[in-house]
Amino acid sequence: MENERAQWGSKIGFILAAAGSAVGLGNIWKFPGRAYEGGGGCFLLIYLFIVIFLGVPMMITELSIGRASQTNIVGVFDKLGHRRFSWAGWVGVIGAFIITCYYGHVGGWVLRYVVGYASEAPKIYDDSLGYFYNMLGYNADGKTFFPWVAVLFAAVFMLINAVVIIRGVEGGIEKFNKFGMPALFFMLLVLLVRSVTLDGSAAGIHYMIYPDWSKVTFDTFLAALGQAFYSLSIGMAILITYGSYLPKTENIPKNTALICAMDTLVAMLAGFIIVPAVFATLGEQEVGKGGGFAFVSLAKVFEQMPGGTVFAVVFYLLLLFAALTSSMSLIESIVAFLTEHFSWSRKGATIGVCAVMFLIGCLYTCSQAAFPIKGVWLDAANGVTFPAFCDFMEFLTDRIMIPVCALGCCIFAGWVWKPEKIIAEIEQDGVRFRLAKVYSVLIKYIAPLAILAILIISFVTGMTLS
Ligand code: PFF
Repeated sequence: MENERAQWGSKIGFILAAAGSAVGLGNIWKFPGRAYEGGGGCFLLIYLFIVIFLGVPMMITELSIGRASQTNIVGVFDKLGHRRFSWAGWVGVIGAFIITCYYGHVGGWVLRYVVGYASEAPKIYDDSLGYFYNMLGYNADGKTFFPWVAVLFAAVFMLINAVVIIRGVEGGIEKFNKFGMPALFFMLLVLLVRSVTLDGSAAGIHYMIYPDWSKVTFDTFLAALGQAFYSLSIGMAILITYGSYLPKTENIPKNTALICAMDTLVAMLAGFIIVPAVFATLGEQEVGKGGGFAFVSLAKVFEQMPGGTVFAVVFYLLLLFAALTSSMSLIESIVAFLTEHFSWSRKGATIGVCAVMFLIGCLYTCSQAAFPIKGVWLDAANGVTFPAFCDFMEFLTDRIMIPVCALGCCIFAGWVWKPEKIIAEIEQDGVRFRLAKVYSVLIKYIAPLAILAILIISFVTGMTLS
């Protein structure tokens, strides 16, 4: 059955799988801190604007070219008669590969915290920073050692991915998401109620609703743009692959609107869970972003919250589901590519890819604290630098590879294959695309300019941007 192309078993299955790819660590781990930094309410408005005017047209484009070509990301351009654009596909596949290497490890840390809160919460409360560092191979006296705890949990996380993906698109990924996504929404609602009913959360809610424009700079727009692409899984081959499993009868713009709405809703809910909870327990100055925040600062929030340990387990389970559904989409797009491009078996490709990703991801985890593993970077502001390997991996994918792949896709769609063909792909089987004209303008002019801005700024200001 290797040659028969997989298809989604049901419409809702596809929507949940695409939403599952979109909703991930980006929404729950990164978004709240970014929203706080960007001035709360204003960031939410800017983000919403970007999702509607850039995220939606980009997602429509990727799903449509995926469905039109019925193949993987690298094959897409060849199949549609423009082989010279294959570079965009390669950047997407390699970017997806690098993201998954570290995503799988952060997913492993999340799993470690599910187990940690369920079995030894007082230990975490006692010294949350020490607990985090200990997982990463660093102790209070500054001694470093191999971070076997993090690595072990990352291995389990990748194993779960492999087991589901080997079962295939319909039997594995779709089934997992059908159960995982509703569970995720349920956990989000439970946490939201807990957070907004905490004493002192009103100030946080106020901050997230009323725009503070004094905090908005040009960087805020770039941060929102990068966050939106990452969060919606744009520019990474995923949506092209998922689109290729989509039946011709599906209404792509409608599905896109739904997926983007779900993703944005989850990000906003996470913002309204985390920011008010931190305001209520630790105070405004403690709202931060990045790994340390999700793993260290939040421990204090749960410690001070009535019933906190139970909510902590729920929170990390939520994060675990979100991370799993996203990493599955990343691995699937690479497996699809390997099985089609090199005729590998699905099982062999999945096991091979997961194992290699896990091993490369070890460099990410080890470079956090235990070992001085470096990447190399060049930009106008700092010249040649040697950042920690973990920062290097994230920066390379978020700031360079995602934008380059997205730029390739939108130049291809807007100027080479032309919006008319995308519109024709969408308007099959009686589907009407009412905003076709607006779409054409956005994909031809607005999207490429905005993406170019991210790329240029990344090279000019270098790794200093968050
Ligand atoms: N969208 C996911 C998140 O927000 O965590 C992460 C992600 C998945 C990024 C798939 C890129 C991707 F292709």
